[in-house]
Order: sequence, then C-alpha cells, then structure tokens
Amino acid sequence: MSGNTIAVLASGGGSNLQAIIDEVESGRILCKVAVVISDQVDAGALARAKEHKIPTEVITKADYPVREEYDREVIRVLKGYGVELVVLAGFMRILSPVIIEAFPLKIINIHPSLLPSFPGLDVQEAALKAGVRFSGCTVHFIDTGVDTGPIIIQAVVPVLNNDTVRELSIRILKEEHRIYPEAVRLIVEGRVTVKGQQVMINDSKVDAEVSLTNPPVKG
Ligand code: GRF
Repeated sequence: MSGNTIAVLASGGGSNLQAIIDEVESGRILCKVAVVISDQVDAGALARAKEHKIPTEVITKADYPVREEYDREVIRVLKGYGVELVVLAGFMRILSPVIIEAFPLKIINIHPSLLPSFPGLDVQEAALKAGVRFSGCTVHFIDTGVDTGPIIIQAVVPVLNNDTVRELSIRILKEEHRIYPEAVRLIVEGRVTVKGQQVMINDSKVDAEVSLTNPPVKG
C-alpha cells in the first residue's frame, strides 16, 4: 500500500509528529501532512502543526460522547482532507471498528514496548517490573485488538541497572523518533506488504548476523 496524503492524530506533546514533519520537510518522505487532529484542545501537537502551517482539527469527547459517533466525525474529517494514511502518535483513544473498517490497514500506531510484550498503558513501568533486559518501541498497523496489529518496524534499547521509568521512557522515545518516520516512509514508498499478521518490507537488507546481549558477552 502507499498513501501520500497523511493525517496525524495526537493527544499530547507531539514529539513524534515533529519527527515526521521534520522528515517530510527535508524531503526524505514524499508525502503531505494534510491535517493534525486532536481530542485535546491544548495538545502541544496542535501548536507544532500550526507552526508548520498544517491545518488542525479538534474533535472532543464532550462533543461526541459516543465512541462510534466520535469516530464517524474523525472519518468525515479524514475523507474531507483526502487522507490515505492515518498516523496515530500518542492519540489516547481506542478506535472503534467503524474507523478501522473505513481505513483497513491504513492506520498505524507507535507503542513504547516491544510488542507483543506489554500492550496497553504504563508499559515502561511494566517492563521494569518484569525485569526484561531489553525494551523498545513498535510501529504497527491497527486492528480491532489493543496493540495487536501487524508489526512494521521495531527498535530495541537496553534496560540499565536502576533505570527509572523516566529514563527508560526517554531512551525509548528517542528511538520512536527514528522508527516512526521510517515506517511512514516505507508505506508511502509502497514497500510494505501485509500477509495476515506478517509484514514484508521490500528492498530492505537486514544483517542476519547482528545480535545484542545485555549484559554484553565478550568474544
Ligand atoms: C509516545 O511514547 C508514544 O509511544 C505513545 O505516546 C507517546 C507520545 O509522545 N503512544 P509524543 O506526543 O509523540 O511526544
């Protein structure tokens, strides 16, 4: 699939939105961010969009308390801007099947864990509690489950001795800013194919010998 007209949906600060805008403006992703939609009137993401002359739309839960009606309004706005790819970047709402069916395999999300480990909320804390030695982030297509859709790209970061949730979150967020624009680029370039739960990336060379250990293993 491809999609040269994208929308970003965000509830918060919008640092992932910013990473995508930067790559689009530099010409490394050949697409247009047609609109930024938020459910929060004061979302930092809206200010970032305005700085870059990107149209913004606010759709609040107060105006559309029923989830399906909310999603129908989002669909109306997306279609109005001719959106082909929907990018969720810290959008703190679960989408109903109404919108997932309107944009099949055209909605992507970023999640701050190595899915399928730690879906849901407060996942950096959950990773620390579980004692995993690596965590990371995942860009995936949205399906009707919570954080269960086909995985497009992942980045791995180590968990360090005495890490705090904040320290781990910052380490993961830095990688989010690398992999989310890359996922958008791959989709826009038509290099992503989905077969069931598996995603194929065309023209990408992976070093099969690469491996990481934590703690490091010498030799
Ligand atoms: C990120 O950690 C993302 O993984 C999660 O929400 C956060 C959004 O941050 N879904 P930002 O608004 O892009 O700065």
